[in-house]
Amino acid sequence: MASLSFGDREYWDSRFAKDPSGFDWLLPAEALDNAIAEAVAASSSQAPRILHIGCGTSSLSSRLCSLVGSSDRVCNVDFSSVAIKASRAREAAEMPGSRMQWVVANLLSLDDILTLGKSSELGGGLYDIVVDKSTADAISCGEDVPVPLPYPLRVPTMLEAEQDTSDQSTGLVHPLSLLAVHVASLVPSGGRWLVLSYSSSRFHFLKREDHASSESLVGTGAFVDPLQLWEVAQEEPFDAPQAGEPVVGRPVVKHVLYTLIRTSIPVSLRARC
Ligand SMILES: C[S@@+](CC[C@H](N)C(=O)[O-])C[C@H]1O[C@@H](n2cnc3c(N)ncnc32)[C@H](O)[C@@H]1O
Repeated sequence: MASLSFGDREYWDSRFAKDPSGFDWLLPAEALDNAIAEAVAASSSQAPRILHIGCGTSSLSSRLCSLVGSSDRVCNVDFSSVAIKASRAREAAEMPGSRMQWVVANLLSLDDILTLGKSSELGGGLYDIVVDKSTADAISCGEDVPVPLPYPLRVPTMLEAEQDTSDQSTGLVHPLSLLAVHVASLVPSGGRWLVLSYSSSRFHFLKREDHASSESLVGTGAFVDPLQLWEVAQEEPFDAPQAGEPVVGRPVVKHVLYTLIRTSIPVSLRARC
């Protein structure tokens, strides 16, 4: 059998089944406290809703409740039913009265995204803040994803190009481009997507200067260019924990906290044939 990657559900299911107790990737959950508190304060909503994507068994879920002031405004999503089951059980055991939502969903599946966003409200925005601790990292390890073209999620400038829906095909898109479009469909203009990543080039495809090198499918009229949907507002370096004893001269490894801001361009759902 081919070896599994961080982009595969089977990999995560088996990992969480071996250790269902809480585990935090890259950094302890509290490392994001300031950034999340800032995003809550900056939100145009008095009662911002949080979508925690790829929650795994991180203690970030419970921290989000205190940071946002209410457990019922926190929705945790993961495609590993094992992680969701373990995390939900931990909430029940350790947080009496807490009412977070726990959803098993594949963030790369359009049907799952439409269910998450209750499709009729698509474009209206359901989650003011999306929190992602190394989930974009895991997703970026996956293979390019086959998608129907023209893609059912579109922006207004693509409308004309899509009049002829008889010309249907499929194409391959990078999993992070697909994630960026899916997440954008759930977030209103001005909403934020906070991403803690080990990579300093995780969102190169959202930067105009690097854009020429991105994949050819995006922005063709068949698939939305995520550059239209997100602005990289901030990249804050974080010292990664050092393994073992400190060694003089060893370079300090940095993680990066990205703050992406949703642009005002709406994403809507093309009627499916
Ligand atoms: C690196 S772990 C991070 C877990 C957690 N955020 C933390 O900080 O400990 C990546 C998480 O993303 C989830 N994941 C990966 N691909 C996914 C996808 N396509 N849809 C939903 N969840 C996914 C995995 O199940 C795993 O829980």
